[in-house]
Order: sequence, then structure tokens, then C-alpha cells
Amino acid sequence: MKHVLIIGSGLSGLSCAIELAEKGIHSTLVSPYSSERAQSVMAAGGINAAIGADDSVNQHAEDTLKSGGSIAGKEVVTGLCSAAPEIIRQLEGIGVVFSRNEDGKVALRAFGGQSRNRTAYAGASTGKQIMSALIRVARKYECQNIINRLLGLQFHSALIKDNKCYGALLYNEKERKTETIYADAVVIATGGQNVLFGKTTGSMQCDGYVAAKLYEQGACLKNLEFIQYHPTTIETPQKRMLITEAARGEGGRLYYMDGKRRVYFMEEKYGERGNLMPRDIVSKCIYDAPSQVYLDISFLGKKLIESRLFEVSELCRKYAVLDVTKESIPVYPSVHFFMGGLAVRRDHKTSIDNLYAVGECASMYHGANRLGGNSLLSAIYSGQIAAKAINELAENKEHPDFNEYISAQEGMLNGQLSSQSNFSAVYIRYEIAKLMNDCLGITRTEEKLLEGIQSVDYYLAISEKLTYDSDVSPYIGYSLHPMLLLARAILTSALARKETRGAHIRNDYPERSNEFAFCSVCKYQNREHRISYVKEDEL
Ligand code: FUM
Repeated sequence: MKHVLIIGSGLSGLSCAIELAEKGIHSTLVSPYSSERAQSVMAAGGINAAIGADDSVNQHAEDTLKSGGSIAGKEVVTGLCSAAPEIIRQLEGIGVVFSRNEDGKVALRAFGGQSRNRTAYAGASTGKQIMSALIRVARKYECQNIINRLLGLQFHSALIKDNKCYGALLYNEKERKTETIYADAVVIATGGQNVLFGKTTGSMQCDGYVAAKLYEQGACLKNLEFIQYHPTTIETPQKRMLITEAARGEGGRLYYMDGKRRVYFMEEKYGERGNLMPRDIVSKCIYDAPSQVYLDISFLGKKLIESRLFEVSELCRKYAVLDVTKESIPVYPSVHFFMGGLAVRRDHKTSIDNLYAVGECASMYHGANRLGGNSLLSAIYSGQIAAKAINELAENKEHPDFNEYISAQEGMLNGQLSSQSNFSAVYIRYEIAKLMNDCLGITRTEEKLLEGIQSVDYYLAISEKLTYDSDVSPYIGYSLHPMLLLARAILTSALARKETRGAHIRNDYPERSNEFAFCSVCKYQNREHRISYVKEDEL
């Protein structure tokens, strides 16, 4: 019987496991935390599908491609958009209660960069409702022993021989020991690299380590320089809280003060739909504004705010002590989504055989800038696509002997656990997050990127020589070096792209260039980070 190991138990991992289960294929999902705590639960805005009377799959695809700076592959994007209406029906079929209009049709919101209202939502908790429904389905298959969810396990490394993956070595934090799971295919579903950037709108469970380790082990990464800043967030001590784009979709207006006059700068520059321009454009305009930018939704009235933007008013009350029915919200752009990640083919296979990647950790549909509402959609869709491809794979009848590799890794971990710490991995993580924000902000320059590379190289050199502070968690120690390599790969990709496109804005190269009308691929070989350029669905 075919068996698949899925690393990560959020939306894309669950979607893949369920699609596999429907084909009678067994899977084991491993993650440090439960699906109920996955980042997908936080998604409030909605999910795109061209189901409105005035909309079409082609229009959805066109908006996605345009917002993505025209480097995403037309065929794969059309595949994603074509599947969306059926995905909405499937979700309704498993109990997701989408908000509806008075005529009974699924209500559709305006979102940034979209020429039509096409974002379906389930009250103020779309992600939570979708996840709850998928977890219910997964439980049914768990009872039949087709899906198995294991908690408390961190990924350590993939078991790879001759460019083929046979399983993974995992680390059990509680019992402080390794575990090995062999499989016919391994699917990575671990989200973006939030921790590398410190405070983001995303979950701090998503640190990018798995993609980083696989990069060290030979997998290619793609489009790393494209990092989406969400235009409207508020600051809290721990993280950035998202003020959903739905607030502007419902009519919210951005402005700054010029003396006593409000300047509605987005509307002045881009007309009526100015507040709903794609995120890269709105974030840059907020960044360039001469004074603090505010979002006003107060004029929408208490009734509309309570029925459609309840989470915005709750969030502002809780974290900013603000009554949005009376006051404007001070907003700041913050890191929100990574368009780049593990490079995959159109069937979601990585550059390593039998190793797949789905959801935000894979780079495929979003080009240089993701369209709001396409994230939940691509997480579900990519999981389904990978499952279909795995269904066609032959079983791994036997696997090579990895005992020597496993013993060596265990030896290193035990050495780390018993050694005296002589530097703090936590401190370096913190320093790197500051540096990444500083060098990879809304705008970039060669000078800053080179500065960043120099610092990361310095930390890389010391991380190779010293032992870690194991008192915090061995994971923090062993994840550090690969994460530094990932930071280096991101900076290298940003340095190499000498143009401005989507979320990659170079002050020193302010124009789009045909020379770079491709996706970047980064490969780590002989201790060097090598960049090449390919079409979106090529590898
Ligand atoms: O603004 C938002 O609600 C974000 C949605 C998304 O990133 O798709």
C-alpha cells in the first residue's frame, strides 16, 4: 500500500492528505503543533473564485497574472482559476458556511488588484471555517487508519539518495530523540519563512527551516526576492496584526494629514478604485507618504462594520484601544506572504524526485506579487494537484540504507545536547530578523543588500564552528545554519534581480526590464548560491 509522509498539517497538507485518502492512499502528517493551530486558521479575508455573474475564469487568471508582474505561467494560473468554482462547491459540501447575499447567492467581496468582486468569505473567519471542515473530513479518514496525524515532531532532514527522497528524519522535542519515517513520497506543506523576518502578520510557527534544510540538501528555491508587504497592519508587541483588505473592499479609505486637510492619496493617484490597487503598489504609496497613513472605515456605519468587518473592530479595540466606528486606524505595511519558496514543476514535484511541495512553501502561481484571496485557493489546489501526481507514482519497494547518515545526525544532536553553549542561536535569529527587515524592506538597493550579505556570511562562518545553546531547544540550534543559508539565498536573489517588478522594488533599478521577465531559481552547490532564470512552470 502506498504511503505518503506530509510535513505540516495546515490547509495545504490537509488538502493533500484528504485527496490522497479519497484515492485510497495512506498518509502520515507530522507537525510540531496541531492543525487547529496552523497559520491557515488566521486567514480572515476570503477565497477567490470567478462565480459572479459578471466574472470569468479568464478574467480571474488575467488579474492574477497582471498582479504577479507577468512572470507566472499562464497555463498553471488558468488551472488554478478554473478549479476555484469547484473548490467553493467542495467546501460548501463539507460544511463551510459562506456568507450570502439576500438573493441567496454566495456573497463576493472586492479585494485588491481584482477587476471584479470575487472573494467569497465565511463571516469574519474564512480560514477557521475551512480548516474546521477539513479537520472533520480528516478525522473520518483517521478513524479508518488512512490518515494519521502525529504531533510534537520537528523535521530534521530528508532522506535523499541519488536525487530521490525516501522519507525524513524527525526530531521529537519532548522525548529528545529522533524518529525516522520512510515513504513512497514526501510532501512539504510548511508555510512561509516568517521567523526569518521577525514580526510579520503570519504565524511564528512558520520559520522556513524545512525549505532551508532542503536547499542545503540540494533542492532548488525559486523567486525568493518577492516578499509581499501587506499595506494595512497594526503593531503589537509580539507581531503585526492584519487589518484585512476587506476593510478597503467594503469602502475603507486611506489618507494622510496635510495640516488640517485629509489627503486621500490613493484615490488622487489612481481614481475611484485607488484604495484597492494591488498590494505592492499600495504598500509603496504608504511607504512614500509624507506622514502617518490612516485607514478610515468609520463612515461605513456601525451596522455594516459589525456584520462584515467585526474582526477589524475587535482587533483594533483589543490591540490599539480604538473604536473604528469613530476613529481612523493608523496603519503600516508589514511582511505578509512569500511568493518565493521551493521550486516546483506544475505537478508540484520539487527538483528532487518523490519530494513535493504545496501551499506557501512552494513557489508557483503568484509571480512577483500575490493577489489577495488567492492564498487559501492555491493552498487547497496545490495539495490536490500534488496528490493526483503522487497517485501516478510507483511505490518505493525498498529504500537505500540510511543508517550511517542517521547515526551521524544523532551523534551531532547528542553532542549538541551535552556540550556547553558558547553562543546564542536565539540571539543570531533575532539579529538576522532585524537585518532582513532592514535590507529587504519595501525598497532595496545594491548597497544595503551587499551589507546584508556580508553580515549573514559572518554569522554563517561562526555557526559552522561553534556549538549552540541547547538549553532553549535543540531545534533552535540545528535549524540555525540552514536558515542562515536561506537568508543568504534570499539576499542573493534580490541582489541579482536588477529591475523593479511586483514586490521587488529596487531604488537603483526603478524600471521593469525584459531581461528579467522570468523567475529566478537559486541552487546551493559547492558552497555557492547560483542564480538562473526560467519560465514559471519550468524547473
Ligand atoms: O487582507 C487580507 O484579508 C488578506 C488576505 C490574503 O492575504 O489573501
